[in-house]
Amino acid sequence: MLACDSSRLSRNNLNFTAENCSFIVRRILVTSALPYANGDIHIGHLVEYIQTDIWVRFQKLIGNRCLYMCADDTHGTAVMISARKAGVTEAEFIAQMQAAHERDFAAFDIRFDNYGSTNSPENRILCEQIWTSIREAGLVKSRDIEQLFDPKAGTFLADRFVRGTCPNCKSPDQPGDNCSKCGHHYSPTELIDPRSTLSDATPELRKALHLFIELEKLHAFLEDWTQSGKHLQPEIANYLKGHFLGEPLRDWDISRPAPYFGFEIPDSPGNYWYVWFDAPIGYMASTQQWCDRHGEKLNDWWRSNDCEIHHFIGKDITYFHTLFWPGMLKTAGYSLPEKVHIHGFLTVDGEKMSKSKGTFVAAKTYLKHLDPSYLRYFYATKLSSRVEDLDLVIDEFVAKVNTDLVNKVVNLASRTAKFVESSGLSPTYPDDGGLFAEAAKLGAEIRDAYEATDYSRAVRLIVGLADRANPYVEDRKPWDLKKDPARARELQDVCTVALNLFRQIIIYLSPVLPRLAEQSADLLSDPIQHWDQSQQPLVGTRINKFKHLLQRVEEKDVQAMIEDSKPTPGESASADRQPGAASQWNDSGDSLAAEPLAPECTIDDFAKIDLRVARVIAAEEVPEAKKLIKLTLSLGGDTTKNVFAGIKEAYKPADLVGKLVVCVANLAPRKMKFGVSEGMVTAASTEGAPPSEVFVITADQGAVPGQRVH
Ligand code: MSP
Ligand code: ZN
Repeated sequence: MLACDSSRLSRNNLNFTAENCSFIVRRILVTSALPYANGDIHIGHLVEYIQTDIWVRFQKLIGNRCLYMCADDTHGTAVMISARKAGVTEAEFIAQMQAAHERDFAAFDIRFDNYGSTNSPENRILCEQIWTSIREAGLVKSRDIEQLFDPKAGTFLADRFVRGTCPNCKSPDQPGDNCSKCGHHYSPTELIDPRSTLSDATPELRKALHLFIELEKLHAFLEDWTQSGKHLQPEIANYLKGHFLGEPLRDWDISRPAPYFGFEIPDSPGNYWYVWFDAPIGYMASTQQWCDRHGEKLNDWWRSNDCEIHHFIGKDITYFHTLFWPGMLKTAGYSLPEKVHIHGFLTVDGEKMSKSKGTFVAAKTYLKHLDPSYLRYFYATKLSSRVEDLDLVIDEFVAKVNTDLVNKVVNLASRTAKFVESSGLSPTYPDDGGLFAEAAKLGAEIRDAYEATDYSRAVRLIVGLADRANPYVEDRKPWDLKKDPARARELQDVCTVALNLFRQIIIYLSPVLPRLAEQSADLLSDPIQHWDQSQQPLVGTRINKFKHLLQRVEEKDVQAMIEDSKPTPGESASADRQPGAASQWNDSGDSLAAEPLAPECTIDDFAKIDLRVARVIAAEEVPEAKKLIKLTLSLGGDTTKNVFAGIKEAYKPADLVGKLVVCVANLAPRKMKFGVSEGMVTAASTEGAPPSEVFVITADQGAVPGQRVH
């Protein structure tokens, strides 16, 4: 690091101190994958966001200029369906989701420089611009394709909503895009016995126009880029070579026909960009928002040789980030990622996270029971630069937090700080037998481990320092020195050493445990601003009153969190959704939860209400009323009733005429502003849902007007 290579310095990255030109400040833009806006953040996601946040905090601490960008990934069929189910508009749905995501991330001390949304104006503009470049490069072609359509749900089916038997190895119940057993990639139309996971209907093949990017035209470039040894972990480069690059790359289907929640393609009306087109562009759109707020230019981050771009993602989305995305960036003339850091998946006690076992823990459920620092620390002890899955073994989680963090690290301060509350630290640093100097020297190695995302190694080295510091305290026994006023100087010196060793450890750990670092800095009256503070002992400062830094984790709290994560009886049908099994209808419990059942009534109570089948023979809007349609109902023969129904936002009058509805026929007439209402039409809705989400109850085929509903 002792270099001052002026060729790499530009206006943007010049901020070393003039007299001590020892470190080249890098400009680094970091992203985590954009979480889907159709679900809560859970402890699986947190592997990634914690991994990234640690790296960003580390980069900032060593003085690099580093930005951390993220956003919600809002588009696609999943959000459209979820919003529909929740009875809200997509915009409302994604706004609520985003607020929840941001709350969860903040609670885990994950600190983004900007958190945007793929449904933003900035993103739309960038998508259009990149699309134009891709068109101009001659990479787009269109053709009609047959896609699976769910006739029950009324929508084309995204890959993830189709399951069926793998065409390659014949394993049943596989996802729509690639087989979990043999890893084969295919199109959902190739599945044997496909089923829609939305409705369990057998999907139909329907024809629609789609646009494609001819990725094969970028084959040579992608081969070079992925195999250069610089940007990807070796196992990833090999995987790409073995699975994709050995044959021509498939055209990438980049559009979806309406209905689709997304951006309409300007030069292909009625078609929308597939969510995976606009999602990674969301990284740039989020940066754009940050730039607008800080008076900077997007190109200084995304089109500059002075800026490194680092993506952190999970292994499941490798394909998009190592083939499509570099292809898009290259074509549009943006910088390519310096590195795509890919991590494995979380398992709990050796198994996939499971709702029924209570190991599918939502971030907000975790927070009700446990301190977020525990999880940050535990993940750090598990993460390396390899693409391995990582196992959260509950006993190990408890042991690591209590033995390493509380017993070894925090104890250094809790056993000594109180003895120097009045004296402060010694004015000069005492002889400690070389402990501080050794730990300072180890800083370089710890730093390299962080840089290489080898956090398990970094933490091992740091805890090793605590293992050396603790015997010092036990040897010198400050609690005994305290009893002898003549040894007050010695006591101060011993505590000065112990607290300095503690401080060094805390500085090294601060990317992992920012909250503990802040509390410790308060204790020592010494804010942590730079890694190099670990190289100089602190002397002569005031020590504040010791407050508890970190509680031990209690096994019972972990168990309570697991219990709390198990589905409640009403939810159990949707736990661990196994399409085709008990949950084949996928009905959510939301409506019932929004309006619990009324108190019990008797059959006689019910008999007082005379429900009849009626035919709508005329329907007209009431122009002056926002919600009302005036219906003329026939109960058969000459008997008709006029009824005003609050369904204008859900139905067109013409669509109602002829329907057989169920009406309350003996309701006392009610005089309204626009006339007398002589009954009521029954309809279903969810409490609190918008008025467009009202569904008139109709009678099954064969019923006739005038029949009583029992
Ligand atoms: N929306 C896409 C990413 C678009 S990026 C332009 C997506 N979203 S996600 O919500 O499903 O996942 C977000 C990130 O969390 C992904 O990198 C994914 O790999 C990671 N994880 C989700 N579940 C995980 C585990 N159980 N374990 C570890 N990481 C996991 O993919
Ligand atoms: Zn297979």
